Amino acid sequence: MCGIVGIIGNKPIAEDLVEALRRLEYRGYDSAGVATVEDGKLVRRRAEGKLRNLEKRLLSDPLQGHIGIGHTRWATHGRPTEVNAHPHMSATVSVVHNGIIENFRALKEELTACGHVFESDTDTEAIVHLITDEMQKGASPTKAVEHALSKLQGAFALGIIFSGDEDMMIAARKGSPLAIGHGKDEMYLGSDAIALAPFTPEITYLEEGDWAVLRRSGVEIFDVESKPVKRQAIRSVASSLMVDKGNHRHFMAKEIHEQPEVISHTLANYIDMSKAKVVLPDLGVDLVTLPRVTISACGTAYYAGLVAKYWLEQIARVPVEIDIASEFRYREAPMPPGGLAVFISQSGETADTLAALRYCKAKGQKIASVVNVRTSTIARESDSVLLTLAGPEIGVASTKAFTCQLAALACLAIGIGRARGTISREQEIAYVEALLEVPRLISALLAEDGQFNDIAQHLSQARDVLYLGRGVSFPLAMEGALKLKEISYIHAEGYAAGELKHGPIALIDENVPVIVVAPEDELFPKTISNMQEVAARGGQIIMISDADPVAAGCEQAIHISVPKVNPLASPLLYAIPVQLLAYQTAVSRGTDVDQPRNLAKSVTVE
Ligand code: G6P
Repeated sequence: MCGIVGIIGNKPIAEDLVEALRRLEYRGYDSAGVATVEDGKLVRRRAEGKLRNLEKRLLSDPLQGHIGIGHTRWATHGRPTEVNAHPHMSATVSVVHNGIIENFRALKEELTACGHVFESDTDTEAIVHLITDEMQKGASPTKAVEHALSKLQGAFALGIIFSGDEDMMIAARKGSPLAIGHGKDEMYLGSDAIALAPFTPEITYLEEGDWAVLRRSGVEIFDVESKPVKRQAIRSVASSLMVDKGNHRHFMAKEIHEQPEVISHTLANYIDMSKAKVVLPDLGVDLVTLPRVTISACGTAYYAGLVAKYWLEQIARVPVEIDIASEFRYREAPMPPGGLAVFISQSGETADTLAALRYCKAKGQKIASVVNVRTSTIARESDSVLLTLAGPEIGVASTKAFTCQLAALACLAIGIGRARGTISREQEIAYVEALLEVPRLISALLAEDGQFNDIAQHLSQARDVLYLGRGVSFPLAMEGALKLKEISYIHAEGYAAGELKHGPIALIDENVPVIVVAPEDELFPKTISNMQEVAARGGQIIMISDADPVAAGCEQAIHISVPKVNPLASPLLYAIPVQLLAYQTAVSRGTDVDQPRNLAKSVTVE
């Protein structure tokens, strides 16, 4: 993970480096640093913790260099201390790195034996000494980097500058994304185009294995065999406005409240409104004979995939296999000819999801991705892309990206169902109408968000919380538990309501709140029975439902009232109370809601 930036400019660039890093903080925020070349010498400033600590450091101790690199870190090798913060450097070379160097121990041993002294616990420092070593043996900076790259195993995006050269930066990409920005007599480097948006919209993405030499006058790019190559420059659509919180206290709150709008946009991308008809991009497979859909994703995106499994099986009658990407990629799952593999990812850069995609591609599957970033690696390596139009999601805990993924996946199930003839045109119209109602119903729920305050206050005192759900509400229960634990640090687990009696019921006493996601669908009577089992053991029930708990015989339950909706659309609507409960509980506990400890928004390491 981590975010990297680089600038070759015509004025002191430290402030601009920090501005670019601010846009990459979603990739990690354990520590940050910048390095520049001043009077021919490499100089750096680093600080533990959030970027604001680095900013303070730069105020008291500014940097004047016109060329520089910067880094925001999510620790993999070595604790998040200043010594382990990037940039790492020798007197000759300074490096920022995103990714993991897998053979760093062997390299470190070799280099230490040659007299190099390591000061940090990071894998990155091996790159610094490797390049320095080559240069000490007489190699030019470019040759030294070329040799060093050939010795590195693992994943990396690198930005490299050299003492004595204020007009050269080297970039390299293997497994981690990297964008080059073209300015007027200036050049930029960044982990994504959003980081570079304040400076230039003209972007070139490096391809796998590429490395590049940037100078004010332009860039030379080389492929994995170090042959010069041309890579197209595109105009990025990343907004140059810094995404802000508006009137909200946190990005997460803002993003929760944006859902009616962004879900509408996403639905409009797949629904022909005039005909109430789903229109999908060409998925490159014969939908009528489609033998199987394989879904893979991580975190919240995986839970969106689990909901999609129910939809695809029930609506399109196609068998679905689903797994978390980190497991799937190593399972050696057999793949049927003519199968479709679907990858869901907000960032489009999650390392495990990308590896699972490449596995399926090698097994001859057609690849469809549901992604939020059009220019991401996953999008670029897919045969077809179902874009979610959630806009930039800054809060680490995913909210609007999740519901937009659900919106796109519901359309996918309906579209495939129609193509296979498993639903009628009338059913398609009914489903489409149900989906189109969702943004209005979510607005109604958000207008009543005050109803969560007392419950959240109560939850904030809990040590453990259980979430239960059946059918499509089961993934929602797991998503609810994930949201709560990641931002409030309260232990929470999501269970299939019917599985309760096979273990977790032992946990229930009067101190364990049990949140039940219970839309009044065909499984509702069964869910009510499970709720009674909890009530009989003194558990405190919080029932998120469109049904009245008293009428359902569960008078002791605290009720979070949700508008009635067609069961197809219930996961989109029930996601909202689940998110609000987690958010308000975290606020009550005073945690860092947008940047919870130990997490990062985009996970580009295995
Ligand atoms: C991280 C984030 C989660 C996200 C997951 C998958 O763990 O904190 O919010 O769901 O990665 O990310 P992706 O970008 O692939 O959806």
